[in-house]
Amino acid sequence: MKVVPVSFNYKVYSSTSEMVDDDRELVDLAVSQLEHAYAPYSNFHVGAAARLSNGEVYLGSNQENASYPLCMCGERVALYNAAANRPHVPVTAVAITIKNMKMTIDRPVSPCGACRQVLSEYENKHKHKIRILLKSDSPEIYEVDSVADLLPLGFNSTFL
Ligand code: THU
Repeated sequence: MKVVPVSFNYKVYSSTSEMVDDDRELVDLAVSQLEHAYAPYSNFHVGAAARLSNGEVYLGSNQENASYPLCMCGERVALYNAAANRPHVPVTAVAITIKNMKMTIDRPVSPCGACRQVLSEYENKHKHKIRILLKSDSPEIYEVDSVADLLPLGFNSTFL
């Protein structure tokens, strides 16, 4: 028996002003999507923006439903929006922002397991790493280099 360690590094920016222009713009666009969230049940708003390798940005926000399992996460809406419009263009970065209308969240929130799986699908489809930029109420931003870092031992098409 052996124990295999898994670790990864992520960057912490103290605010968007420390970021390169493209990433700052992506985070700002994700923040702008918070107001488009339809979240009357959770009151947890998620805004997302996906940057493609051609520079285009596709947006999304979470969309809830009275039938709770039908709720769709904001980052998946942005990814599916990008994939439906530009199926052959790699996604290079996704900014995800949250706003809990019931309390302040003082640290970036990372995507749920289902969204990690979907992000991973597009990373593998295009054989291109997707950087993840995370923000909530604090000015701090986390940057993760690749979805694979957030989903160790992930399931993918190589098993099918
Ligand atoms: N949500 C997202 O949009 N992304 C995530 O990664 C986690 C959760 C949404 C789904 C639901 O509308 C609300 O947040 C509360 O779970």
